[in-house]
Amino acid sequence: MCHFSQIVTLSRSTGQKMDFLIRRCTEADLSDIMKLQLKVYEDMCDPGLYALVSEENIHESLLEDYCFGTYHDDQLIAFTMMIANRVSYRNYGTYVGYPEERQKQCVSLEISLVDSDYRGFGLQKYFVTLREKEAKKAGATESLVTIAPGNKYSLNNLLDSGYEILDTRPLYEGAVRHILSKKW
Ligand SMILES: CC(C)(COP(=O)(O)OP(=O)(O)OC[C@H]1O[C@@H](n2cnc3c(N)ncnc32)[C@H](O)[C@@H]1OP(=O)(O)O)[C@@H](O)C(=O)NCCC(=O)NCCS
Repeated sequence: MCHFSQIVTLSRSTGQKMDFLIRRCTEADLSDIMKLQLKVYEDMCDPGLYALVSEENIHESLLEDYCFGTYHDDQLIAFTMMIANRVSYRNYGTYVGYPEERQKQCVSLEISLVDSDYRGFGLQKYFVTLREKEAKKAGATESLVTIAPGNKYSLNNLLDSGYEILDTRPLYEGAVRHILSKKW
């Protein structure tokens, strides 16, 4: 498990700059992550654009996968998670019929949450790059992500980051999602 911790200065399109601490999360961060997820979800105009991830799955990922928190003034203001290239029903490769050998090459970008007061600093794209770096170190050659077609900010960020739509279909309790992939 890497112990990533970094201070980054990011800018908004207005020119406003802010320093953030981005670090790997541990089990001790679980309750803050659950609170942030709920806050972001409750603030959404259309909650159908985001499928809440269970506490059990986030807990599992804190132990087995890659979870990064972003802090400003010691407060968790953004969070992201990537399921490692491991064989699991949670590996998005299972959505597109990848056999186990291919799942071992494939990471899944599962969550990106940014508190509404801190949007516009490009944190989601930063998270994509950060997770891809870790995926490469872990020997993965492909990254998959699911996005609601109406989630235009998230979709634009992933398309801009080089992801391509593989398929669009009902996934989470029937909610339609694009499945996007990037290979390297
Ligand atoms: C998707 C999300 C992570 C993007 O946050 P971000 O990285 O801070 O967004 P960006 O920096 O790319 O923002 C680019 C622009 O879009 C705006 N924007 C981003 N998300 C927005 C939202 N949900 N509603 C309205 N405007 C938004 C930003 O303010 C910024 O505007 P500007 O260019 O005028 O300054 C964030 O909107 C979010 O947490 N959404 C809810 C959860 C979600 O859908 N996650 C993705 C699926 S896991």
